[in-house]
Amino acid sequence: MKEIEIGQHKMHDESRQGEALELANTINPTGKKLYIESYGCAMNFSDSEVVASILAKDGFSTTRNVDEADVILVNTCSIRDNAEARVRKRLTDFKKQKKANPNLTIGVLGCMAERLKKSFLEDEKLVDIVAGPDSYRDLPNLIDVVGNGQKAVNVLLSREETYADISPVRLDQGGVSSFVSIMRGCDNMCSFCVVPFTRGRERSRDPQTIFQECKDLFDAGYREVTLLGQNVNSYRWNLSSKGEIKDSNVPTTNFAQLLELVATVSPDLRIRFSTSHPKDMTDDVLETIANFENLCPYVHLPVQSGSTSVLERMNRGYSREWYLDRVEAIRRIIPNSAISTDIIIGFCGETEEDHQETLSLMDEVQFTFSYMYKYSERPKTLAERKYEDDVPEEVKSRRLVEIIDKQRAFSFEHNKTQVGLTVKVLVEGFSKKSKEEMCGRDERNSFVVFPKENAEKGTYVMVHITDCTSSTLLGKIIEICTPRI
Ligand code: 5AD
Ligand code: SF4
Repeated sequence: MKEIEIGQHKMHDESRQGEALELANTINPTGKKLYIESYGCAMNFSDSEVVASILAKDGFSTTRNVDEADVILVNTCSIRDNAEARVRKRLTDFKKQKKANPNLTIGVLGCMAERLKKSFLEDEKLVDIVAGPDSYRDLPNLIDVVGNGQKAVNVLLSREETYADISPVRLDQGGVSSFVSIMRGCDNMCSFCVVPFTRGRERSRDPQTIFQECKDLFDAGYREVTLLGQNVNSYRWNLSSKGEIKDSNVPTTNFAQLLELVATVSPDLRIRFSTSHPKDMTDDVLETIANFENLCPYVHLPVQSGSTSVLERMNRGYSREWYLDRVEAIRRIIPNSAISTDIIIGFCGETEEDHQETLSLMDEVQFTFSYMYKYSERPKTLAERKYEDDVPEEVKSRRLVEIIDKQRAFSFEHNKTQVGLTVKVLVEGFSKKSKEEMCGRDERNSFVVFPKENAEKGTYVMVHITDCTSSTLLGKIIEICTPRI
């Protein structure tokens, strides 16, 4: 049974895995070519842009054609077992390519590099370089080490690295929507999650560098940024320290203040964020969203389970009631907000009653869309050490189907409520099906398809919604918004 996501959200989009990215127009005096593939969450895609930037300074340009690469880097994800299996298969393909071209350098980056460390180099002999998420500045050096005939590894995690000063190379040249990383790591220690082990301690990035990166993106024609972090609403920057709060008397910037700062880049730059944690979703963040037209009325708030006892074992730090209170706050403060979520079924000890509670929470909240996963036990996590992965596979599969069916019905119902309304869409490009149609997202992150008419990529249009499916709104342009200068 394949795990699927219902809806139109762009984060955690493993379906983008395998996408090769190209950096065009780079001054490339050496002619060295980098091919980089990213798997897993948006943070990995964003990190790959940091990597491309670091290596561009070392004379590399990127290519979409793996056959012409001098260096192949695979930016990996460990969140579930199936994500790791996909990467392993890909690395085996590249190893075959290296047999034909022994000068090729192959490196593994990201969470799997951190988790599996030397076993990639020594036991499996799959790659030449292993570089964890905090060691990308060292990549030029690691590539040189390999050039001298050795294997290279750097998996040191840092308490300070945020790559704040690095201006990422945008790998989707001419895009309209981009990710901006605002923090790294996670201190939450949810018992099912490998991220605190692979990405280390939480640290926030200097707000002025975030503002500047957003401004540079706007000046380059981008019209939407998604602020990224494992837990964005615990963002906290204090000038007395590099992101770590040591002196509580020194003024800090919190997430609400950061949103306010970034909202002032331009009223025509849409701001989204992902992912937030229910325990840190304070009213001041919601009030800030309500106060700015360009802060999108859309909150992704992973619930994971509807059962308080499962949430306790997951170490999530909130109960079902707390979560529902935060949903009520979103609806009260931002009445038109869309709400989406992540759900894990089949966590250790999940009973039929617990599962029914998840279904009833879905009934209560009616998420616009959800990412839904079967629990996958991860080595070293608290759950692996403390609890038994005791829900049988066929029960996990059945429960997953039940929540997917429910979400599909709610997504369809939600989309039907939009028929007859007019929504503001940022045009992202042609639809997959036809050059006569264009597509984009509205403020609530719904995917909208409409006949092209005079619309241009990167502009805003008002679309009257006439029809829908469970995943797409269909409509017709009624106004092309005049760009503000
Ligand atoms: N098994 C299944 N799903 C997981 N997630 C995180 N760890 C696991 C795991 N071990 C899901 C959570 C999280 C999303 C990014 O991935 O729902 O919010
Ligand atoms: Fe993992 Fe929990 Fe941190 Fe999200 S908040 S990255 S699920 S530990």
